[in-house]
Amino acid sequence: EPTDDQESYNRYKDLISTLPTQRWGPCGDDLHQHHGFWFPPFPLEGLMAAQDHFVARPTDVILVTFPKSGTTWLKALTFATINRNRADVAEPNHPLSMLKLNPHECVPLISFLYNDGRLPDLDSLHGPRLFAEHAPFSLLPESVLGSGCRIVYLCRDPKDNLVSLWHYMLAQARARGLAQYHSFDEVFELFCSGISMGGPMWDHVLDYWRESLRRPERVMFMKYEQLKGDTGGCLKRLAEFIGCPFSEEEEREGKVEEIVEMCSFERLSELEVNKNGRIGIGSTEIENKDFFRKGVVGDWNRHLTAEMAERLDRITEEKFRGSGLKF
Ligand code: A3P
Repeated sequence: EPTDDQESYNRYKDLISTLPTQRWGPCGDDLHQHHGFWFPPFPLEGLMAAQDHFVARPTDVILVTFPKSGTTWLKALTFATINRNRADVAEPNHPLSMLKLNPHECVPLISFLYNDGRLPDLDSLHGPRLFAEHAPFSLLPESVLGSGCRIVYLCRDPKDNLVSLWHYMLAQARARGLAQYHSFDEVFELFCSGISMGGPMWDHVLDYWRESLRRPERVMFMKYEQLKGDTGGCLKRLAEFIGCPFSEEEEREGKVEEIVEMCSFERLSELEVNKNGRIGIGSTEIENKDFFRKGVVGDWNRHLTAEMAERLDRITEEKFRGSGLKF
């Protein structure tokens, strides 16, 4: 007898099999178009399950990013901040766990929690619960919008985002021993037309931008470039937004700088777990080092021709015109 869970998951699989599909990227994996956005099948099934079953709490904090815009960094910073006063080092969410775990092990994606073909028990987690998600605003589980929980959104200059995405997918193609499916030029063309993992990027960014203007107490909007330029300032704003502001005393003691340093690219990428560890994502294993490439602003310069950069900038300008958002 199939359980209710299995029946639901079979329904999601059936639905996915009817969606427009496109082979994409260096790995040539399938992307499926669902409500205007392109998803790999693995998180899509989990997202559908989360939409039906995830119950948000007002105290939840959800980190939402467009893939490859700095998710790993944001997870590390928020995890270390929200848990900074935990005293017991044996607790899994003690901030020092971060020195033994990859940030993706510290803060799970909601759709990943829901995609094992059965529903996870998230009720037993003590608040404030910290989750991450890549879904577009329009596809967040309904209870997230109704619950009053807080969403921190991070995105990045599309040029750097594309370059980061390319390198990440290329590393995966190599790790999986695949012959490269798309070239960089092909991935560029598709990205411009809105086809990439999670794309169209501009729609993803704009929906969260508009929501952050409509409900600034619920959605905090950040750019990777801002975070890079003033990590401490952004972290203070973030801490306040999620309801655990740094006290004057903590600031005097250098707590902000301590967390910034602990989560810096240099520090995290040198940890044993991030040099040699791996995490499982769906049926594939990712080497943690692939989450740390360069961590700088403007590396697109070495990968895009001037024409490509201009073209992407023009698309961004057109899409964001009138919104008040710029890169
Ligand atoms: P690059 O490929 O440009 O180096 P995500 O975490 O969303 O997968 O995004 C990955 C990008 O964030 C990569 O960008 C990675 O190097 C960068 N990154 C990872 N950790 C970082 C950190 N602690 N500080 C700054 N950038 C970081």
